Amino acid sequence: MSEKTKKDFLAIDDYTLPELRAILDLAREQKPLARAHKLPHSHPNRVLACVFAKPSLRTRVSFEIAMRQLGGESLFITDKEIGMGTRESVHDVAKVMSRFCDGIMIRWFDHDEVVQLARHATVPVINGLTDLSHPCQVMADIMTVEEHLGTIEGKTVVMVGDGNNLANSWLNASIRFPFNFILACPEGYTPDEGIIQKAEAAGASFMITHDPREAVEGAHVIYSDAFYSMGQEEEAVKRRQDFAPFQISTDLLSKAHREHIVLHCLPAHRGEEITDEVMDGPHSVVFDEAENRLHAQRAIIATLMA
Ligand code: CP
Ligand code: NVA
Repeated sequence: MSEKTKKDFLAIDDYTLPELRAILDLAREQKPLARAHKLPHSHPNRVLACVFAKPSLRTRVSFEIAMRQLGGESLFITDKEIGMGTRESVHDVAKVMSRFCDGIMIRWFDHDEVVQLARHATVPVINGLTDLSHPCQVMADIMTVEEHLGTIEGKTVVMVGDGNNLANSWLNASIRFPFNFILACPEGYTPDEGIIQKAEAAGASFMITHDPREAVEGAHVIYSDAFYSMGQEEEAVKRRQDFAPFQISTDLLSKAHREHIVLHCLPAHRGEEITDEVMDGPHSVVFDEAENRLHAQRAIIATLMA
């Protein structure tokens, strides 16, 4: 694959709405086939390197299984082995890995290093979560919303919690998909300023508020994530205090739309950002959402590594 034709998956708004729709259509089409173990092996002998600098259950397992379902293979490597940016430059890692494998999925801290990796790699690079964003998660989330509510168009998605990588990816999504995004976060925990400005310039429908009760009124989708992300463990005590009014509970959801659904990217800290009652309640679709990581990402891989 030449540098000119290869495509990465670093941010949702790097793609047009028809391209995103094509990925979601493929995911939806292939889901029953994958569940029935009848998916054709469209990518034999292809290898996806999966690089992790942070822990993972869903991302690692879903990417590895997705490659097998497509007839290819995956390779798991941690930052400790490759030492990208420490043992060797990002440029050299990109060049060497591009000679060995057909795609790179990376979970990393510094988003800019992933952008650099993608720039120098001649194979597709997929963002499997950085401190800035988590686009594969939000693609699976949109797929889940559409399975349960028909379409995301015109719906109101309310994230209650941190203006973190997930909030940033939801903002990126609101640049392309016509839905309303509301983030209810404590003061001082707003999303990335650059992404806010981009969403504003694109005319996306979004709002940032500090009042979770007002935010969830009439909401179709309520979205939750941890109060502190991987790498922020030292801030846990302060964040638990700051985010206490932002817990998703049955009481908070009493004014949401009658047929609302509740999503959480997981892992959940039950009893912290979300109660057991909501996680295990009738509106929760968190395990459908987790399963859809597999289907959405398989469609991303199949599209990029075609
Ligand atoms: N939601 C998500 O990315 O889960 P993991 O951290 O387990 O991969
Ligand atoms: N915001 C969380 C998401 C985990 C999937 C984190 O970055 O740790």
